[in-house]
Amino acid sequence: MNICLIGAGYVGLVSAVCFAEMGHNVICVDKDEHKISLLNQGIVPIYEPGLLELMNINVEAGRLYFTENISEAIKESLFIFIAVGTPQDEDGSADLRHVLSVAEIIGREINSFKIIVNKSTVPVGTAKNVKNIIISEIQKRRIDNIDFDIVSNPEFLKEGDAINDFMRPDRIIIGVERKDSEELMKELYFHFVKNGNPIIFMDIKSAELTKYASNAMLATRISFMNELSSLCDIIGADIEKIRIGIGTDKRIGMSFLYSGLGYGGSCFPKDVQALSKTMKDFHLNPNLLNAVESINKEQRIRFLKKIITRFENNIVGKTFTVWGLSFKPKTDDIRESPAAHLINMLTDAGAHVNVSDPEALKYSNLCLRNLESISLFKDKYLSLKDSEALVIATEWSQYRNPDFELMKLNMKRNIIFDGRNQFEPEKMTQLGWEYHCIGRSNEM
Ligand code: UDX
Repeated sequence: MNICLIGAGYVGLVSAVCFAEMGHNVICVDKDEHKISLLNQGIVPIYEPGLLELMNINVEAGRLYFTENISEAIKESLFIFIAVGTPQDEDGSADLRHVLSVAEIIGREINSFKIIVNKSTVPVGTAKNVKNIIISEIQKRRIDNIDFDIVSNPEFLKEGDAINDFMRPDRIIIGVERKDSEELMKELYFHFVKNGNPIIFMDIKSAELTKYASNAMLATRISFMNELSSLCDIIGADIEKIRIGIGTDKRIGMSFLYSGLGYGGSCFPKDVQALSKTMKDFHLNPNLLNAVESINKEQRIRFLKKIITRFENNIVGKTFTVWGLSFKPKTDDIRESPAAHLINMLTDAGAHVNVSDPEALKYSNLCLRNLESISLFKDKYLSLKDSEALVIATEWSQYRNPDFELMKLNMKRNIIFDGRNQFEPEKMTQLGWEYHCIGRSNEM
């Protein structure tokens, strides 16, 4: 089947590569000439495990190509996926500029029956707006015999595991009105659900809302655990034991119960706020979502206070090492990274910070301020030099089994603040470390 993906960002690019891998003919289009030129040279502008290799295989096989020519891409495809960004507007709502401008272009270029599939995360009602814009553009061309349909197909892939999530999804959500489009979508995704997982068809509004509901639910679980972790810190209970204790209840399940520095990334913070804004637009009070967001912010402030309190309320001029800059492991994405927020708060308070990260250091200028108080280190051991304490902010696998004795040689004091609960507190004490983590020790 011929597919065109408009937008070569995270979702667009991964979807394009995976559809091609399943044997479809895919054109991936972006207005950013530089990005298209990189992709045509076999360079992937983002770090995502396995993406580069799979992309090159499919380009060589002739199933995938990249272009800026949106007109050609639309004309040659039956399925037109909109996969452009919906960044956050100043008031918290989703900025739909890119989606609506793509709709205009589709209306100007459409030449035969197309299924226009929206993959961008958009508020309820967007499919209808997209449809109206396309109709009005077609009318301007004074032609009336072009048929098209709009489908909503939100994407649930996670960065770092994006290919696996796309190729073997837990479920595929499709909001659709027409039976013929439903059948075509079923055919398009046929090979992705051979594992027996469902394609769930529903009305378009419910599909649009399912994406926000899913992200908001996961963010809620994280904030709930983070809220509990502050109680654990005071009463001396262990959030890790509680995680296993509740997660083994099948009704709750194990995933997304890790307490830490809070959630970040390009989706959870933005989507929680966008859903909250939608509720306010309809005069509803998003009590729970407000709490989820404020607990997330408080969590990193609470962690910073732990550090500052340990140093008798004065970290001015002291050097700390932070391992991790990306918002989570296996990605170089620094958007809303809890690690970056923490580093900024440390330097605001007068500290010098040595930062190490396997992939994200190249973006430090974009997410860190007080750059005169920052030193970057590719090598995690060298980053510990003259450090009062190590702070683990992102749980890269490279940080799981460090040489603790080598670490001690470089540091001023044997202190670790672990914002991702990577080690067993008792073992760390035996190894001669003063170990502070989240919700696992009897400390304020
Ligand atoms: C998320 C959704 O998982 C995905 O379905 C959607 O399509 C996009 O948003 P992503 O942002 O890539 O994906 O990352 P994810 O793995 O979900 O983690 C989000 C944040 O939550 C990270 O900052 C992570 O560190 C944090 N997190 C996750 C926790 O703090 N605790 C957990 O138990 C799980």
